Amino acid sequence: MSMFQEAPALQERPNTHHQILIRQPAPDDGIAVHNLIRKSAFLDDNSLYCYLVLCTHFSETSVIATLGDDLAGVVTAYIPPQQPDTLFVWQVAVDTAAQGRGLASSMLNHILERDTMRRINYVETTVTADNHASRAMFMSLARRYKAQVAESVMFDRDKHFLNLHDSEHKLRIGPLTR
Ligand SMILES: CC(C)(COP(=O)(O)OP(=O)(O)OC[C@H]1O[C@@H](n2cnc3c(N)ncnc32)[C@H](O)[C@@H]1OP(=O)(O)O)[C@@H](O)C(=O)NCCC(=O)NCCS
Repeated sequence: MSMFQEAPALQERPNTHHQILIRQPAPDDGIAVHNLIRKSAFLDDNSLYCYLVLCTHFSETSVIATLGDDLAGVVTAYIPPQQPDTLFVWQVAVDTAAQGRGLASSMLNHILERDTMRRINYVETTVTADNHASRAMFMSLARRYKAQVAESVMFDRDKHFLNLHDSEHKLRIGPLTR
């Protein structure tokens, strides 16, 4: 059997948000994280090895949400070495069955409210122009933390992506008010 089997679809269950457990990822979560990313719209699929590294070395700055044995959501993020006051959010995915209930916001809050994140004053991410859900999610975060949002192109379609991928716009959110 291939290790790249799709994870079973999350069951639709009413009012299950309270049963969702949010925690730091561990290496054993890597396969499920990879599978959720692979089936998420808008997200680039990277290697399983990449997600294993994220669930190992970047666990303190990342988060997963589980519902029983199913993975309901994930945020992968890291602190850029040159910007120790900034959390760079790389990918956010919520299983379609769990979307629209505040899970992505809860996961982002979970990272930012950790004791180890006290020095984080800014959140950065990149979004494409057409990803309205992602933009709404980060604008909502900016409102929760009473923060400004500055937008600029970080990776350009022509210059950085060989015209093969839409430009990625950097959103810099902060300073955060906790
Ligand atoms: C983007 C995504 C992670 C949001 O997850 P979610 O758990 O449904 O988001 P939340 O319920 O926490 O909503 C956060 C905010 O975004 C808004 N939002 C979420 N999805 C939206 C949509 N499709 N259209 C408009 N606004 C949306 C919510 O209304 C909420 O705003 P509010 O706090 O002002 O009410 C999810 O849609 C997803 O996995 N999409 C595919 C992958 C992706 O695009 N990831 C982001 C780029 S890395």
